[in-house]
Amino acid sequence: MAESSGSSKTPSKIYESVESECLAFVKECAAEFRWRDLSKDVIMDIGCGSSLNCCNAILKEFPDVKALVAVDENRSVFSSINEKDERIQLCVGNIIKRETLKEFEGKMDKVISTNLIHQVPNKKLAFENVYYMLKPGGEAAFLFALDTCFCPFIEAMLKDPPHQAIYKVSEVFSQTLHFNCVTFNKL
Ligand SMILES: C[S@@+](CC[C@H](N)C(=O)[O-])C[C@H]1O[C@@H](n2cnc3c(N)ncnc32)[C@H](O)[C@@H]1O
Repeated sequence: MAESSGSSKTPSKIYESVESECLAFVKECAAEFRWRDLSKDVIMDIGCGSSLNCCNAILKEFPDVKALVAVDENRSVFSSINEKDERIQLCVGNIIKRETLKEFEGKMDKVISTNLIHQVPNKKLAFENVYYMLKPGGEAAFLFALDTCFCPFIEAMLKDPPHQAIYKVSEVFSQTLHFNCVTFNKL
């Protein structure tokens, strides 16, 4: 039977860009898990998006990392990626469809994900599937927006033309959403 231990904290800072948010998240992970040498580690970034923000943050903080697996359910995010480090493997996969990530099961040293979990309808299944990806002793960390009434409110507001004209989505979300950072280990 699988066991896990975990922790959760709410970052207090609002970041200027998603890129800087992801870099801060990777630094947070490094402090939480005491990451030093990742030269033997394979790290999966789930919901990587077209900017590969987390992969690039890992490469910046840990230039010796062994390999990265960048996963996204949307194939089109990969079409705009022209240049990438050769250690990044791009993979179309859906974290709530375990069969789409079968080849990676039990092979990941670490799994990270930013700005995805709050979009996933079945979060329990997502966390379970991440668990399957990890090697024993593997670590996982997630940054996601807490489930507040602001999300549906803002989404509705942004569909309303007068409000669409006033607000930029990124500004509204960074000012109103509270982010939570959750980590766990596979024992
Ligand atoms: C808001 S973007 C975040 C991108 C990146 N992690 C960041 O923080 O900059 C969410 C990404 O997750 C992908 N995504 C959504 N649902 C997913 C799922 N179930 N499995 C894998 N990727 C998913 C989307 O296609 C999108 O590229």
